[in-house]
Amino acid sequence: MRDDIQSVLISEEEIQEKVAELGRQLTEEYEGRFPLVVGVLKGSLPFMGDLIKKIDTHVELDLMDVSSYGNEMVSSGEVKIVKDLNTSVEGRDVLILEDIIDSGLTLSYLVELFKYRKAKTVKIVTLLDKPEGRKVDLVPDVAGFSVPDEFVVGYGLDYAERYRNLPFIGILKPEIYQG
Ligand code: PRP
Ligand code: MN
Ligand code: MG
Repeated sequence: MRDDIQSVLISEEEIQEKVAELGRQLTEEYEGRFPLVVGVLKGSLPFMGDLIKKIDTHVELDLMDVSSYGNEMVSSGEVKIVKDLNTSVEGRDVLILEDIIDSGLTLSYLVELFKYRKAKTVKIVTLLDKPEGRKVDLVPDVAGFSVPDEFVVGYGLDYAERYRNLPFIGILKPEIYQG
């Protein structure tokens, strides 16, 4: 698996340091508010698992599976709800966790959906932001790292469902996706 990686973009240590910092920030912000933390499947899983352990106040967890990519390299632009939340967001402080924002289509869809469902507040925390990929105007409230327009994998990010379990963010060798 690691032979498929051209270079490490963000190391495991750098990620964990950032996650701890974000956890401290969110603890302060959500102290006494009991936010609904929504992880977007499947990419946010490693980030969510690590980050929630660094938020030192009450949180409720839920998961939503929204897919716009499938196994394709470029977003189809179509957002599908594969699994909806179990919890009502009405009147709640919703905190959406993502691994990466690229075109912004997934997140802009979710933000609108949660506002329509009468969430009290909706905030976005993403580990990675790829501003060059934007197709819609969307700015995350919190972003861990800005990444260049390269095919990045690891720590939740996949190529054809692989590499999500790498503990770092790496750049995939072009020959892997060029076939
Ligand atoms: C990826 C990623 C984000 C989204 C970002 O998910 O995890 O959720 O795409 O792209 P966008 O800003 O262009 O919408 P994907 O749909 O591939 O599903 P996955 O998390 O299961 O890999
Ligand atoms: Mn995703
Ligand atoms: Mg994907």
